[in-house]
Amino acid sequence: MNIITENLRKVYIRQNADSVEVFNNINMDIKSGEKIALVGPSGVGKSTLIHILGLMDRPTSGKVLIDGIDCFASNDAYLCKMRRENIGFMFQFHYLLADFTVLENVLLPVWNDKQKKESEARDILNRVGLSDRMKHFPSELSGGEQQRAALARALINNPKVIFADEPTGNLDRNTGKEVEKILFDSSNNNNITLILVTHNEELAKKSDRIINMNTGEEMQ
Ligand SMILES: Nc1ncnc2c1ncn2[C@@H]1O[C@H](COP(=O)(O)OP(=O)(O)O)[C@@H](O)[C@H]1O
Ligand SMILES: [Mg+2]
Repeated sequence: MNIITENLRKVYIRQNADSVEVFNNINMDIKSGEKIALVGPSGVGKSTLIHILGLMDRPTSGKVLIDGIDCFASNDAYLCKMRRENIGFMFQFHYLLADFTVLENVLLPVWNDKQKKESEARDILNRVGLSDRMKHFPSELSGGEQQRAALARALINNPKVIFADEPTGNLDRNTGKEVEKILFDSSNNNNITLILVTHNEELAKKSDRIINMNTGEEMQ
C-alpha cells in the first residue's frame, strides 16, 4: 500500500483555552513494504500523526491518499472498513482486554469469523513465540509477552501496513529489542509496510528511512 500525505495539519481545539497546532504541512510518500522509523522528542506529534495515518483520527486539513484514494473525503464507515481490512495497530500499552484469553484477544478484530480464523490465530501466536500462552489471560503474561500478543492481534487481518506507537516504550531494553525484532521479521516476511515510533536507535537504523518529526528531515 502506498501512503501519501499532502499538507497534513492537525490542530487540537480546546474549549475555553488556546488551541494547539501540533503540525502543519506534513508531506510524506511511503512506498509499499517500506519500513519507516519515526523519531522525535515527546510532544512533537508522533502519536497524533500515526493515529491519522492509521485512520483513527481526522486531520484538521490536508489529505491522506492510500493507493490514490483520498481517505478523509470518505465517511467513518469507509474508514472503519479500510482499517479492518488493511491496517494493524500496536500501541505503547498493549490494550489487550483483561477478561479475554490471549487467543480470544488475537481474534477480536475478526470476531465475526472467529471459528474460521482460529487456526490462523494459533499459527500467528506460534510465530511470535506464545504457543504455550494461548489460554492465559493478559495479566498472567510478562510485558514482552503482552506486546507480542498485541502484535499477533495486529497481524490477524493480514494487514498491508502496521503502525506501532512506541510498542516497546514500556519494556526493558532487551525485551524491547526482542519484541521489535519480531515486529521487523513479521514485516519482512509478509512484505508489510511498517511505520514505527521508536527510541531504539539500533533498530531505527535497520529501517529503510528515519524521519525526524522535530526537524522534518530524513536521516537515512
Ligand atoms: N486530545 C488532545 N487535546 C489537546 N492536545 C493534545 C491532545 N492530544 C495530544 N495533544 C497535544 O499535542 C501534542 C502532540 O502530542 P502527541 O502526538 O501525543 O506527541 P508524541 O507522540 O510525539 O509525544 C502535545 O503537545 C500534546 O499535548
Ligand atoms: Mg506518543
